[in-house]
Amino acid sequence: MNKFVVNGGKALNGEVVISGAKNAAVAIIPAVILCDEPCRIENIPNISDVTLIGTILHEMGAVVKRVNKSTLDIDPRRIFTHEATTDLVRGMRASYYLLGALLGKFGKAKVLLPGGCNFGVRPIDQHLKGFEALGCVHEISDGAVDIRSREGRLKGRTIYLDIVSVGTTINLMLAAAKAEGLTVIENCAKEPHVVDLANFLNSMGADVRGAGTDVIKIRGVNYLKGVTYSIIPDQIEAGTYMAAAAATRGCITVKNITPKHLDSITAKLREIGCDIEEFDEAVRVDARNRTLTRCNIKTMPHPGFPTDCQPQFVAMLTSCNGTSIINENVWDNRYQYINELQRMDAKISVEGRLAIIEGGTPLKAAPVKATDLRAGAAMIIAALTANGTTVISNIQYIERGYEEVVEKFQALGADIKRIYVKDSDDFAESV
Ligand code: EPZ
Repeated sequence: MNKFVVNGGKALNGEVVISGAKNAAVAIIPAVILCDEPCRIENIPNISDVTLIGTILHEMGAVVKRVNKSTLDIDPRRIFTHEATTDLVRGMRASYYLLGALLGKFGKAKVLLPGGCNFGVRPIDQHLKGFEALGCVHEISDGAVDIRSREGRLKGRTIYLDIVSVGTTINLMLAAAKAEGLTVIENCAKEPHVVDLANFLNSMGADVRGAGTDVIKIRGVNYLKGVTYSIIPDQIEAGTYMAAAAATRGCITVKNITPKHLDSITAKLREIGCDIEEFDEAVRVDARNRTLTRCNIKTMPHPGFPTDCQPQFVAMLTSCNGTSIINENVWDNRYQYINELQRMDAKISVEGRLAIIEGGTPLKAAPVKATDLRAGAAMIIAALTANGTTVISNIQYIERGYEEVVEKFQALGADIKRIYVKDSDDFAESV
């Protein structure tokens, strides 16, 4: 079992280079299934979710070659099956993108229901409703979704989403890219990775318009050509380091980012008292010698404040003076990690979708666990501010989505290391 050991109390200083976006990579890699030629995908984060989706594609017949740490060559021409029923599929939520991609290629798909981070009910009813509108029928049995087009090829239609859903928007774009006629997705998600997928599909010759607005129009094409494509920087990884700089009252420059994607995060950090300077592809967060104060946050679909930065900001706000109120407006139950922060003496109470943080009292080190990916990032931030040595377990969640997280924090001056713990907690060696 691997754990992180963090000695808190050091301000972060220096530069950090942000990796490619996890949530774009896990959509764009399955999108290659639709392509009729090999593709090269660059700026891929080196994280376990990417390894997993690459392995799933390989098992389905694709030739997946890692060219270097951040580049994958994928040749989808030998994909021989419309079924993704290996247990690996349960290892990640985004495996539901195989449904859209396989439907687009074969007109049918059988995919195990997805796993991934667990923070409450995570239904896929909107995905299935959208596929039905495109002429598909489905049944769920033995833990898998078996779905097929009634007529072999999907048919374009107008679909109004009841909920602004990132996954549904992306899945329908995948399914519609080679469908017959025009598909219109109304009330769709506008996240940067939705736009990135549209750009990738268009670079292969697809006809996707409007991504980044709340209506996307896709006119199906017959052939998609191979391309070299570079994934956008990870907005949430950037937000995580920015929150950590504020929490430790440090000064860091976050490089290889798109500052526009970070507007809602930057606005909150300015509101609590940080100095933020934006450059073309970087942002500097300066919290040195500052008294940071409370703020309220309501998570919203993009361009609102991202739910995927909510836990990190809660951890950071425990260090700020005053009472902050968080309204988690996207997920029903994304506060499980607060029990862990309470073990560190954080003064936080939860009432339904609200978390109320009485900030300004230093946290105390304690053994804690990552209850999911972003919750794990929040534990690191809390540990960096705490007095004493915090041991974080369940770090496999963190490594699903953060490339070289220990190395990046160490380079900023954090006292953090990864240890291997054999059988019992009293035998630990550094790895
Ligand atoms: C994506 O999940 C991200 N995952 C999540 O990031 C992120 O939290 C979420 O979008 C919201 O921004 C990936 O991109 C792989 P949704 P997704 O469909 O697409 C409800 C991280 O930490 N809903 O936008 O699964 C749903 O329950 C991860 O990197 C339905 O009711 O989220 C939620 O309340 C975790 N029915 C809301 O919509 C559906 O069919 C938004 O979910 C689909 C969703």
